[in-house]
Amino acid sequence: MHPHLKAILFTREDIQKRVSELAIEVSKDYEGKNPLVVGILKGSIMFTVDLLKELTIDAEVDFMDVSSYGTGVSSSGEVRILKDLETKAEGRDILICEDIIDSGNTLLYVKKLLEHRGASSVKIISLLDKPAGRKVEIDGDYIGFEVPDEFVVGYGIDYAERYRHLPYIGIFNQEYLIKD
Ligand code: PRP
Ligand code: MN
Ligand code: MG
Repeated sequence: MHPHLKAILFTREDIQKRVSELAIEVSKDYEGKNPLVVGILKGSIMFTVDLLKELTIDAEVDFMDVSSYGTGVSSSGEVRILKDLETKAEGRDILICEDIIDSGNTLLYVKKLLEHRGASSVKIISLLDKPAGRKVEIDGDYIGFEVPDEFVVGYGIDYAERYRHLPYIGIFNQEYLIKD
């Protein structure tokens, strides 16, 4: 375990197993639909790639870079588009792929935006859900795991851009918070 973590929540194997289960569900629900999987950078990189590899249907992928946290540990509520989609959303069945739903600000913003652009359907898949963090009303359509009200990192999820590379998900030890 990385020394800046308090505990491991989900091992590499736990994640692989759950991602496979989710991919089976998604493949069933989107059979014949060629969904556009929209990964939200950067947190969803690992989940998006691992999910895509397990799908048994045709699908396309694109990415949006949306940021609401900056370098802090809690959501600012202000969502910024850093990189937009290259694919037209109009008429597409879109599956937004996220690593975590916390306040819900990011996903509410992206979902509304893609609906506004004329997507046929917009659903959300998120590996993690932290219900205790919610500030706006939004739910995932597919959720991997619920997490407690702790600062989680790993498998794409960062604190101040660190720990994204870890193949497992753990609880950050706040003794290692960067103070300024
Ligand atoms: C994190 C995380 C989600 C979002 C969840 O992204 O990856 O996208 O925050 O929080 P919310 O529900 O409160 O909006 P962040 O903005 O830190 O960017 P990153 O993915 O590049 O780390
Ligand atoms: Mn993110
Ligand atoms: Mg972040």
